[in-house]
Amino acid sequence: MHTDPTVIAIYSLLATSFLLPSAAYVAQVPLGDETCEQTTVAILGGGMAGVAAAQALANTSIDDFVILEYRDTLGGRVWHTDFGTDEHGKPYVVELGANWLQGLGSDARENPVWALAKKYSLQNTYSNYSSIRTYNETGYTDYRHLLDVYADAYQIAARDAGRILTQNLQDQTARTGLALAGWRPRKDDMAAQAVEWWSWDWEDAFTPETSSLVFGIAGENLTFNQFGKANHLVLDPRGYSTIIEHEAATFLTHPVHDPRLRLNTTVTDIQYSPNGVTIHNRDGSCIRAAYAICTFSLGVLQNKAVTFHPALPHWKQTAIEKFNMGTYTKIFMQFNETFWPTDAQFFLYASPTTRGYYPVFQSLSTPNFLPGSHILFATVVDEQAYRVERQTPAETKSQILAVLREMFPEKNVPDPIAFTYPRWSTEPWAYGSYSNWPAGTTLEMHQNLRANTGRLWFAGEATSAPYFGFLHGAWFEGREAGAHVAALLRGKCVELLGGLETCEERRFYAVLNGTTPLDAYSGLNGWPVSSTLL
Ligand SMILES: Cc1cc2nc3c(=O)[nH]c(=O)nc-3n(C[C@H](O)[C@H](O)[C@H](O)COP(=O)(O)OP(=O)(O)OC[C@H]3O[C@@H](n4cnc5c(N)ncnc54)[C@H](O)[C@@H]3O)c2cc1C
Ligand SMILES: *[C@@H]1O[C@H](CO)[C@@H](O)[C@H](O)[C@H]1NC(C)=O
Ligand SMILES: *[C@@H]1O[C@H](CO)[C@@H](O)[C@H](O)[C@H]1NC(C)=O
Ligand SMILES: *[C@@H]1O[C@H](CO)[C@@H](O)[C@H](O)[C@H]1NC(C)=O
Ligand SMILES: *[C@@H]1O[C@H](CO)[C@@H](O)[C@H](O)[C@H]1NC(C)=O
Ligand SMILES: *[C@@H]1O[C@H](CO)[C@@H](O)[C@H](O)[C@H]1NC(C)=O
Ligand SMILES: *[C@@H]1O[C@H](CO)[C@@H](O)[C@H](O)[C@H]1NC(C)=O
Ligand SMILES: *[C@@H]1O[C@H](CO)[C@@H](O)[C@H](O)[C@H]1NC(C)=O
Repeated sequence: MHTDPTVIAIYSLLATSFLLPSAAYVAQVPLGDETCEQTTVAILGGGMAGVAAAQALANTSIDDFVILEYRDTLGGRVWHTDFGTDEHGKPYVVELGANWLQGLGSDARENPVWALAKKYSLQNTYSNYSSIRTYNETGYTDYRHLLDVYADAYQIAARDAGRILTQNLQDQTARTGLALAGWRPRKDDMAAQAVEWWSWDWEDAFTPETSSLVFGIAGENLTFNQFGKANHLVLDPRGYSTIIEHEAATFLTHPVHDPRLRLNTTVTDIQYSPNGVTIHNRDGSCIRAAYAICTFSLGVLQNKAVTFHPALPHWKQTAIEKFNMGTYTKIFMQFNETFWPTDAQFFLYASPTTRGYYPVFQSLSTPNFLPGSHILFATVVDEQAYRVERQTPAETKSQILAVLREMFPEKNVPDPIAFTYPRWSTEPWAYGSYSNWPAGTTLEMHQNLRANTGRLWFAGEATSAPYFGFLHGAWFEGREAGAHVAALLRGKCVELLGGLETCEERRFYAVLNGTTPLDAYSGLNGWPVSSTLL
């Protein structure tokens, strides 16, 4: 890091004036490139994608890189916290962000995150989505048969989605696909609304109206048909992020003090060109790199938390605005006793008035989880998550207790002894939890989200066409961006996801057609498998 105090002063000033139009910015500040620290590759963000990108570089002996990370730790959206206490006064550890290993895989096709979980003996437990009890405002009431009605329609919709994809027909919303397949819940059938929320919104963090049928189902298929149906919940006292920290330790000399790792560093401005990238940070430091790999979340890009010079091209900005950033908020409660049944893992609640109102509760106070912990958590998404994140914890707590008292009228539901939840929608390093694919766009539009602009590359959960929303999506994209940049630096070709080789930069599309022909589903557009595998 440069230490010239006058330069630091100039850039601290600039950090507060980043609203200036880019021309004024450039005119006022000669790029200052000569005074910036130099590196070969700057990796922007130390979540799963950033760490995988750095490891891919290190694997080709490109060790001259720096990782710039906002937070004081690696892991990004894999984020845990101490919560409540056990009988010895020791805190439990709960995951505020990613929690499941989704689709584990066999030796032939293994989810890379499952491989890391095994490598580092990450503690996890089979999460049984069939172990569910259903409730409404009168208490326990069994409407589980609706889960089967939905599942039958989903299967038909999934086949339709496959046909639409392979025949290059127009995409639909998941709502349209489900309705055509026979699933048409009435607006006042709150049990059916709860079942639909559990079956769709809970995974996507968006309604069927705001989700693509084709890519919603293709995404589900590519994870669960390819790697297997199982979901395991991670409950490790080291936190889920321990696998990311351990992987970082394979190429960093120290988890905090390796000089290439810059924690507590907020990137505010990125200047890119075909010759290199200059990055300015809030603390006044700057880095000049031959290449940069930006792994910031779609929410960070959409919220203009970072400025780009020149402004991102229209095709790139359109892609950033096109895809959706969801919010998935887990609300943790510890009680002085486990007043709910211990023979089920999930409790679904159908509010009589509001779809998605504290719809699912999960027990950790269950054998193989954290038995005896008396910890329960609720999940809300989308509009209900924004609402909960806008209000005070006291308001949320009293609403949740009212719901639990409806669900368990025969119990004397006590006030929780510990209560917490994150605010993903406003967290300045995330602005949401994970991305989702809307209806009415194409694989090529998504490729524009991944494509590089000059020497600035993009990677992360959202840039994964097959695995968006998943931790393994972040890993695959980080690895590929790192390997691709490494290949360009060495003047070599690179093997893409799915096995195709390229010697070029990433493709982008200045003009887009309405649909995607089948032969465009290839590694050149970030697609991993031949369509026959769907
Ligand atoms: C609530 C929640 C639940 C989830 N559940 C699951 C799950 O069960 N299973 C699953 O597979 N996936 C799940 N996910 C998704 C998974 O967490 C993400 O796909 C993955 O962690 C994304 O990794 P990434 O590297 O792409 O992005 P990130 O983890 O967001 O990494 C980007 C990094 O950039 C940093 N950064 C941002 N802005 C700046 C800046 N201006 N300057 C410097 N650094 C910056 C951030 O701090 C962050 O560390 C969940 C996510 C959330 C939030
Ligand atoms: C780096 O190489 C190691 C050892 O071969 C491998 O396990 C790991 O997956 C590689 N990482 C990436 C990101 O390619
Ligand atoms: C990051 O900031 C936190 C809080 O200000 C501080 O405790 C920590 O030591 C810092 N870490 C690094 C690596 O700078
Ligand atoms: C999951 O739960 C269902 C319902 O309780 C049960 O029938 C099934 O055996 C469970 N599956 C496993 C693998 O435990
Ligand atoms: C999803 O998988 C099902 C089989 O389980 C298949 O019928 C369908 O065509 C696939 N759809 C897509 C969009 O991949
Ligand atoms: C809730 O369940 C009870 C018992 O099954 C039923 O009588 C009532 O109509 C349900 N409420 C709503 C809003 O559907
Ligand atoms: C939990 O607290 C409630 C009061 O809030 C009390 O009535 C109940 O007995 C307590 N349960 C246990 C197991 O201590
Ligand atoms: C759009 O369609 C035209 C005509 O079929 C084709 O030549 C072109 O390559 C397509 N562009 C994209 C981005 O698919």
